[in-house]
Amino acid sequence: MHESMTDGGSARVATASMSELEAQIRTCQLCKLSKTRTRAVPGEGDVHAEVMFIGEGPGFNEDKQGRPFVGQAGSFLNELLSIAGLDRQTAYITNVVKCRPPGNRDPEPEEITACAPYLERQMALINPRVIVTLGRFSMARFFPGEKISQIHGTARVVNGRMCVAMYHPAAGLHQASLADTIRADFRKLPVYVEQARIMFQPSAEEAEERVAASELAREEVIYEPQTAAVLDDAPEPEAKDVQEGEAAATPGNEDENEPPDEKDGDYGQLTFF
Ligand code: URA
Repeated sequence: MHESMTDGGSARVATASMSELEAQIRTCQLCKLSKTRTRAVPGEGDVHAEVMFIGEGPGFNEDKQGRPFVGQAGSFLNELLSIAGLDRQTAYITNVVKCRPPGNRDPEPEEITACAPYLERQMALINPRVIVTLGRFSMARFFPGEKISQIHGTARVVNGRMCVAMYHPAAGLHQASLADTIRADFRKLPVYVEQARIMFQPSAEEAEERVAASELAREEVIYEPQTAAVLDDAPEPEAKDVQEGEAAATPGNEDENEPPDEKDGDYGQLTFF
């Protein structure tokens, strides 16, 4: 007999790691969708993703493969991700319900409720700065009472995350006139991501990862052959030439009236480090 959400099942979900959670979802029997599914579809992508996409529920192909958005709507989603400068490896993609509603009907309220603890746990584990809702059912979780036709492409802060309401990619397949609207909405996504970075401080762990990444990037700049040559050719400042009260000729200390050295432009990015 399966464990219900009220007798300890929900406690197990609330503390599960991502791999435990995926295993729980794959064997879940909390609603009738478990009786008709081929495979449950937990979700996939980077478990530390900055941006999490939430669709409606698996369709025919997703049910067969156990992976989200692998059919035609998935192909369009891939295009939309690339418009936003993202891909399936750096984002996380999941659905409101993890099993296919038969015949691709809308998920029912009891099915959404039964599956909700899984989505909550995924959000807690991934802790994305930005959540993108794809379609009405995930929109309802973050923008209750709103209409997708009125708020598509807009964002709102909900519980410390930037939530962006998007049309479901399938809407662009069924209604060709919407496809360009959806593309235009996805073009705004990098701006929302940047706003979220400014608004929400990184966790200590993330800050450490970013410092480590920037350290690697710095080393690449230093050891990149062209840059290294410039650095090696730089004349050693000779202490004896520097008269008392005279500034040493180090980058960034030049006479303000002098035209900038052409090379400075090429390596302006170094100032970032
Ligand atoms: N539509 C969805 O909402 N999710 C999928 O995974 C595939 C199609």
